[in-house]
Amino acid sequence: MSTSLVSAPTRPAGPARPTDPSGVERLSRTAPAGPAGPAAAPSAARTRTSPVEPVEVTIGTGVEATGPLQVLGVPGQVNLDYAATAPCARAAADAVAELLPWYGSVHRGAGALSRRSTLAYERARQDVGDFLGVRPDDSVVFTRNTTDALNLLARALPPGTRVVTFAAEHHANLLPWPTGAVRLPVPDSAGAAVRAVDAALRELRRGSGGEAPILVAVTGASNVTGECWPIADLARIAHRHDARIALDAAQLAPHAELDVTALAVDYVAVSGHKLYAPFGIGVLAGRADWLDAAPPYLAGGGATLGVGPATHDVRWVDGPGRHEAGTPNLLGAVALAAVCNALAEADRAALYADEQALLARLRSGLAGLPDVVELRTFAVDAPRVGIVSFVVAGRDSAEVAADLAQHWQIGLRDGLFCAHPLARRLLTEAADRSGRRDLPPTALRASIGLGSTAAHVDRLLAALASLATPR
Ligand SMILES: Cc1ncc(COP(=O)(O)O)c(C=O)c1O
Repeated sequence: MSTSLVSAPTRPAGPARPTDPSGVERLSRTAPAGPAGPAAAPSAARTRTSPVEPVEVTIGTGVEATGPLQVLGVPGQVNLDYAATAPCARAAADAVAELLPWYGSVHRGAGALSRRSTLAYERARQDVGDFLGVRPDDSVVFTRNTTDALNLLARALPPGTRVVTFAAEHHANLLPWPTGAVRLPVPDSAGAAVRAVDAALRELRRGSGGEAPILVAVTGASNVTGECWPIADLARIAHRHDARIALDAAQLAPHAELDVTALAVDYVAVSGHKLYAPFGIGVLAGRADWLDAAPPYLAGGGATLGVGPATHDVRWVDGPGRHEAGTPNLLGAVALAAVCNALAEADRAALYADEQALLARLRSGLAGLPDVVELRTFAVDAPRVGIVSFVVAGRDSAEVAADLAQHWQIGLRDGLFCAHPLARRLLTEAADRSGRRDLPPTALRASIGLGSTAAHVDRLLAALASLATPR
């Protein structure tokens, strides 16, 4: 059984995207363009055989970030915390600056500013939907972030829906689901994940008489390990059991091409602030029927067709507006759409290859440090995006993170990464695998993306190496 993430057929090409309004000519790529997507891990990562053997590394200088995909930042600060919040892309900043003079009410005014703002908001919805590869009749609802999107979906589930998820999920994809949700144990391979979902769905179908709606909710890429999950295969299994599947793409979408239609997932959730856009914007996109049948996520202006004199005399609109009551986040939507358009025009296969080369450099360097132990769920060479979690044996992770910030101007994350069940389990496994009894109870996470360079990675490795040497 294939377990690749992108084993789904490619969609026919849609209408041509508008040309880059900035007029910035893209640099021609020198890196060989590999197949798009996380299924195509470059050979550097594949040559890895042991967690303690340094891998053969393709030396690259970094993940190109030019023109609209140039990321903003502060010179001297080494940001290795993209998985928490990625830096803002110039495309987002420019789109906001361009719209600010025209800033007006959305869906609520007849004036020129309002009409332009409304148009910009709805065009942003279209662009983000195109970027995600949604079907023509899918709903694209703007939310605050992925957490908000998955909570919205949880509230929109038809009564009696059973949800199946994994203990490997971020809390955003563990906690919103209704009582009775099935939480499958963390699998040790992509194939085991597919088999576990198959068995769980068969069991549920037997138990519920085959009637109840079922939703499988899984991540595209782990926020702890960066490992990619076999989404296309999980979608196929879910549909075989007449279940739907929701994809938490918070970590996958910034790193790899995503096509909801080709993957055959029913719902997808993303966060703008992890996708090089500002805070406060996210998306839930997918099948409109459940969303249109559900009570509005937020009740209020903009979500109504009409309100009568009696307390509960209200008719709600269908479509995304049903769940977007209140004045929407125009600038957030426009900024996110600008990044989506810039990414859609970029050579994503080349960006992916660059990131993989940098990731291999990082993992190889970490593997060469005697006290560093990497956390992982799947095999050491499983496809993954630019996220690595690890511990420094004998050192408290919070202290290491503080040391890196203070003495090396490196920002990364420490803790359990809002994925407590997974992180705790992986820490235990790391102790077993390494035979070390001095691993700390929390971990460190380095994550990369557009604009990350070999120098950033090397600085982290040098800093970690220096920790072994008492100051
Ligand atoms: C895989 C995953 N899902 C969901 C979330 C929640 O995203 P947000 O905090 O933007 O709602 C995160 C955040 O780190 C994540 O990594």
